[in-house]
Amino acid sequence: MTREPEPKKSTHRVAVSDDLEVSTYLEIARTKIGQGSQVDDDTSQHRETIIVIDFGSQYSRLIARRVRESKVYCEIVTHDTSWETVKELNPRGVILSGGPSSVYEDGAPLAPDWVYTGQLPILGICYGMQVMVHQLGGTVSPASKKEYGHAVLHQNAVDDPFFKDLPPSMPVWMSHGDQISGLPPGFESIAYTDNSPVAVVANEKKMIGIQFHPEVAHTPQGKKLLQNFLYDICGCKQLWTAENFVSETIDRIRKQIGAGRVICALSGGVDSAVTATLIHRAIGDQLTCIFVDTGLMRREEPERLRNTFEKYLKVDLVYADAVEHFINALSGVTDPEEKRRIIGEEFISIFDSEAARIGKVDFLAQGTLYPDVIESKTSESKTSAKIKTHHNVGGLPETMKLRLVEPLRYLFKDEVREVGLELGMPDEMIHRQPFPGPGLAIRIIGEVTQDRLETLRAADWIVMDEVKGNDLYRDLWQSFAVLTDTHTVGVMGDFRTYGNVIVVRAITSEDAMTADWARLPYSVLARISNRISNEVPGVNRVVYDITSKPPGTIEWE
Ligand code: XMP
Repeated sequence: MTREPEPKKSTHRVAVSDDLEVSTYLEIARTKIGQGSQVDDDTSQHRETIIVIDFGSQYSRLIARRVRESKVYCEIVTHDTSWETVKELNPRGVILSGGPSSVYEDGAPLAPDWVYTGQLPILGICYGMQVMVHQLGGTVSPASKKEYGHAVLHQNAVDDPFFKDLPPSMPVWMSHGDQISGLPPGFESIAYTDNSPVAVVANEKKMIGIQFHPEVAHTPQGKKLLQNFLYDICGCKQLWTAENFVSETIDRIRKQIGAGRVICALSGGVDSAVTATLIHRAIGDQLTCIFVDTGLMRREEPERLRNTFEKYLKVDLVYADAVEHFINALSGVTDPEEKRRIIGEEFISIFDSEAARIGKVDFLAQGTLYPDVIESKTSESKTSAKIKTHHNVGGLPETMKLRLVEPLRYLFKDEVREVGLELGMPDEMIHRQPFPGPGLAIRIIGEVTQDRLETLRAADWIVMDEVKGNDLYRDLWQSFAVLTDTHTVGVMGDFRTYGNVIVVRAITSEDAMTADWARLPYSVLARISNRISNEVPGVNRVVYDITSKPPGTIEWE
């Protein structure tokens, strides 16, 4: 029997931030000179914080986003986080998330003792409720009937602030196999469903447990329930707004940077653009941005980026034209991972030499986002570590002892967009679809040449034009063209042709982990196909990719 060949390692992954690639190149380069990724992380904020303790639920981030949408700041922490760490955050309440475990199993994660000292209100959600009940002396046991999906919650005759302005019965979303079979001392049951006699518990010390998920859209009044907890029970004010964030962050950046100099690599993505704009607002000309034009971006993108930063935002921008350089470096290369490696290495070498010309620099600004931070704090295999193994990037020169400025470190993507809009940045930059760091190089199957790039850019332009013209851009996670290495026979007029095949890919997704191919209207597909085969020289066939992820990936390479 022959053995299957080892699968090739791949760098396909979730790009939490569009600028992850640029950040990653720089992070590796810094690590090589022993600078690690230490950040001047000034978390000594005075803003009030809700602490979300993560028990491994897929919904923890959703809980955090719902809290932030309610204009209350929150942070996600692991279940073994100490009070010393938490108290720095000015905590006003704790939310215990759901999780996949059963509290009565060996090794089930528990909440730290400080949670129950009574200084902070608690909202335990699903597993979070069971953990609280279990740790405070109640009983949790397997439910005779597991409850998944819709249920109707009925309040018992109590007047609890958690239910303020809510009807006596409301639809909720359940997903649990365990239930509360004995209440801890001092608790009472304040609501039930048909299958859960104890669906909400509470005590006098503002500790509440709920069996359902208020954070999901299937619990229509979930947001109101969370807000009752945040505003009425924890007493939080609605201070977490883009406007407040901008003014606080500008102050903080000024303090952090002093008279120092900052450099920031622009990638064309939302995160580095907002990072640079925010820092520029704080310290003006002490910031220099470096944009390495790899020649691998979409049509007009480098020009637009320059225009926005130089003319509109008046940022000091070093434009490094490295188009020839990248084409030469990629000459003859067809392997996707090899393309990625070369692009990473070349990026750092050009960034290095441009930065060296600026003179003494103290800080490197990066557009790291909160999901990247949570990932590296909560997951055993750090995302960046995973990516790093695939990139053989050189180190930054020893002389470049840079500290990091990461003003978006505690923001979710949608918050970054709000901050960008608050800063008056152009809408098209703020709502740009994610674009991979290696750019069009991984959308050209086979060798990357100037001609092939031009073919792809022309086809991609038509896809974008039709997607935007039909008002579909914001509904799609990504939409683009791929140039294959296949030629097919066609006919144009009286002539037989032998031309390139272009693939159109449009997908919907929440987070790039999974994706579905977009059901674009036939009329839009027809126009795209017609225009590409008529307007792009050398292309005689257009196909639409109807593969979801999994089993496919979003990109073709
Ligand atoms: P896949 O193709 O793995 O893509 O489904 C998931 C997301 O990641 C982006 N992607 C990359 N981003 N460097 C990046 O910065 C890369 O090498 C890379 N490969 C894929 C892809 O566009 C999608 O958003």
